[in-house]
Amino acid sequence: MTDKILILPGDGIGVEIMAEAVKLIERLKADGLDVELEHALVGGAAYDACGKPLPDDTLTLARQADAILLGAVGGPKWEPLDISVRPEKGLLGLRAELELFANLRPAMLYRQLASASALRPEIVAGLDIVIVRELTGGIYFGQPRGVRTREDGQREGFNTLVYSESDIERVARAAYDIAMKRDRRLCSVDKANVLECTELWREVMIRVGRDYPQVALSHMYVDNAAMQLVRDPKQFDVIVTTNMFGDILSDEAAMLTGSIGMLPSASLDANGKGMYEPIHGSAPDISGQGVANPLATILSVAMMLRYSLAQADMAERIESAVGRVLDQGLRTPDIFTDGCRKVGTAEMGDAVVAALGEK
Ligand code: IPM
Ligand code: MG
Repeated sequence: MTDKILILPGDGIGVEIMAEAVKLIERLKADGLDVELEHALVGGAAYDACGKPLPDDTLTLARQADAILLGAVGGPKWEPLDISVRPEKGLLGLRAELELFANLRPAMLYRQLASASALRPEIVAGLDIVIVRELTGGIYFGQPRGVRTREDGQREGFNTLVYSESDIERVARAAYDIAMKRDRRLCSVDKANVLECTELWREVMIRVGRDYPQVALSHMYVDNAAMQLVRDPKQFDVIVTTNMFGDILSDEAAMLTGSIGMLPSASLDANGKGMYEPIHGSAPDISGQGVANPLATILSVAMMLRYSLAQADMAERIESAVGRVLDQGLRTPDIFTDGCRKVGTAEMGDAVVAALGEK
């Protein structure tokens, strides 16, 4: 049966990088990939068109789709808006409505890019970790939240960090399952020395671990994890953590690989349906210039083929094509180093398509 993919370019460079992903999918269709593409608005673009960052039509199409590919949302233009209609709400709404609770953020260093990392090559060469970030709970969604005025007239802002045992258990299982397919080492990152909520997190991680005796579970406080990621990142295999800690640590881990422009992500529900997106944002500073790196989005297409569309062979074809293009020395400005050839977004996308080779 034809799989439906919903394309949501979003804002800023999201539009430019998505054009390259679509080019790639069209080429795979010519090679026999049986998918149908639909397009919709999300984020600031949707707000401009209809006053909502997540229009009902977009949500309906997202529910009907087998997989969703998203570019990026947000930009300075929409920052003055009320938080309830900011572009980010479009993304958060999709995550919540579709219950995409398991966010997989691999941080893998292509050997060709070792010198683009801010860290010494020997610290990052061969780096291959996955951060599993809880995505639909924690302080991002906890109630109550807001800004209120106290009796003494001062305003105070408040958010709630809350996780139920079942919230923790399902993301724990997702993380253990991934660890089983890798090096079987899982590090759970929390702040159990201060936050009760993450004390429970730790307890549930240990309990679920009894079903995975082959996986070595360790625990780390988030401050230490932030330090260890730059001191000796290769000590990690799979990291599982809360929504906000995962947001922060995944940006840090991305930078180890030379550029945040390289990293894809998958956000999965309990049935393997997913939304796929590059982990970088809408990069307003470079948007419209044709210089954004499309590889994170292209690699997100590979993850989509693997996790939601059961097309592991095609996923590997894309990943090898990206490797070949890097071998050829092509680099967008974010990963450029001396001796390479600087290219723009479209040229990079074309090169990947060309490197796909014969079926
Ligand atoms: C991410 C982003 C989002 C988040 C923003 C855009 C809401 O930073 O996907 O990491 O905080 O989750
Ligand atoms: Mg983030």
